[in-house]
Formats: sequence, structure tokens, C-alpha cells
Amino acid sequence: MKSTIKPTIVVIGSANIDLVATAATIPAAGQTVMGDGFSIVHGGKGANQAVAVARLGESVAMIGCVGDDDFGRNLRSGLSGGGVNCSHLRTLKRLATGVALIVVSRSGQNAICVAPGANHGLTCDDVDRAEPVIAAARVCVLQLEIPIDVVLHAIKLARKHGAEVILDPAPAPDEAPAELFQVDILTPNSTEATELVGLPGDADPAVIAAALRDRGVVSVALKLGANGAYLSEATGDQAVSARSVEVVDSTGAGDAFTAALAVARSRGEAMPDAVRFAVAAGSLACTKFGAQPSMPGRCDVDAFLSS
Ligand code: RIB
Repeated sequence: MKSTIKPTIVVIGSANIDLVATAATIPAAGQTVMGDGFSIVHGGKGANQAVAVARLGESVAMIGCVGDDDFGRNLRSGLSGGGVNCSHLRTLKRLATGVALIVVSRSGQNAICVAPGANHGLTCDDVDRAEPVIAAARVCVLQLEIPIDVVLHAIKLARKHGAEVILDPAPAPDEAPAELFQVDILTPNSTEATELVGLPGDADPAVIAAALRDRGVVSVALKLGANGAYLSEATGDQAVSARSVEVVDSTGAGDAFTAALAVARSRGEAMPDAVRFAVAAGSLACTKFGAQPSMPGRCDVDAFLSS
């Protein structure tokens, strides 16, 4: 039976099991390096964002797919146990749960390869079945580890119902259809942003953000890692700096950022304050190992911001 609870934030996206090796360095193409540890961690950009929203104290539903296997069952119970409404997390018989192979270096950087599995079984019909949840949500959060036609369909549906649409365009697609830019807030990192608009990787944040807004994005919150974020809106641009933290593992930091932005916006905060909150959440996520285990709670972020 479907739940009648109507969460404030709906996340439509991926759920993965992360198979994580830690090593001194990330191997280059053709290179083998010896690692020094291995962990199995709950991940997936969509699930990470849903868990982060719940930890930040907002009600959240996840729309997505897992496989009918132990990985899928573990992910579902982790999400439910973490306070995420999983009424629209479908279990597929014919596809395995998504898996991400991750190497984390001693400096906390990572390289990730995702085998999407069941995430690519999510359909526009799944999104339509969740229409009452989307219609009741103040904010709809999407990423790109699910089929792009489903993302475009969800953007249209969420906009029709007046939800604010936040798209985290990760991973950046080879070709981005024009409708992908019809969102309220885009939260790319520099690599994704420059790939989306065909600019060189070292392009100025102001130029990158302007190119994205020219394509139809209302506000751009460009994630700049240790340098914080760059916010670009119709009313003007501003850089938001990040405090320095001891980086253990940056996996999921971008997800913490996007989730915190969604939480702040759902509470009516203006973009500059919402981005400051998001930068703090992203910074804190870097201080712990793993994706979902590193998502900070509301008290952690508030304490970090006021210390
Ligand atoms: O953003 C981090 C996430 O990317 C990991 O948890 C992994 O599953 C991939 O989706």
C-alpha cells in the first residue's frame, strides 16, 4: 500500500552500493596500484541527497529503483531507517542494484565509475505514479544517474505543480538537450558546468554561470570545492567562500551541498543564505569517509556556521 505522507522535498534519482578502495593515489589509465583498505558503503547521488535532506531535518521522499538483491534490500532499509519515504522506490526483478566502483586517495580525492543497473530501469510511468508526491513537494531534486528522458519528464511535471526544481547535472551528459536547462537552480561542479556549455575547464566562474543562465537556468550555484561556490542570479553574482577543513574523503560532498540547498530553499531562505548553508554542509561531508555515512546533520551544520 502506498503511503499518503506528502514530504516537503522529493528526490528523483539513483541509489548505488559503493565499493570503495582506499589507496595512496588514484590509478592512471593502464596502471595498477596497491590499495590499503576496502569498504562497502551506501551511495548513489539520489539516495545520498535524500539521506542528507532527512538528516538536515526535512521530510523527503525518494523516487528511484533498486534490484531484487541484497544490495537493493540493504539500500532500502538504510533509506527507510534514515527517515526517507521509500513508497516510490521500486524493486526491479530484471536488473541488479546500481554499483559504483570508487577509489579514494589519501588526499581525499576520488575517481568513480557507476554501473547503473536498476537506476536505468526507472521510467516516466514511475514518475507519473508519484505525481501526488511531486505535486505536494516544495522542492524537487534531480541528478543524471537515471535515464535523461525521465529527468526531462520529471522537470516538466514538477514545474507544472509549482515545485522549485534543482538539477545536479552529475555526471554531465555527452549531449544536453535544451529542456535540461529549464530548471530553477543548477548545481554543477566546474567540470560538469564547462562540459555542459563547451567552455575550457579553467573558464571563469562568471563566464560559465552566464552561459548556463543564457540557456534558461534561473539561478546557478556552481560548486567550487575548497573554494566554496559561485552564485549567479538575475539580481547579480557573488562568490561564497568555504572554511578550510581536514579532507578525509570528498565522495558525496556535492550531494550534501545540493541537499542542503534544497532544505534551505524549502524553508524559504534566499539564495545567498541557502548557498552558504550548502557550502557548510559540503565542507562537513568531506571530513568523514563514505557517501551516506558522511552526510551531516542539521546541528552539525548550524554549529559549523556559528563557530
Ligand atoms: O556523488 C557520489 C556518488 O556518486 C557515490 O555515492 C556513487 O554512488 C556515485 O553515484
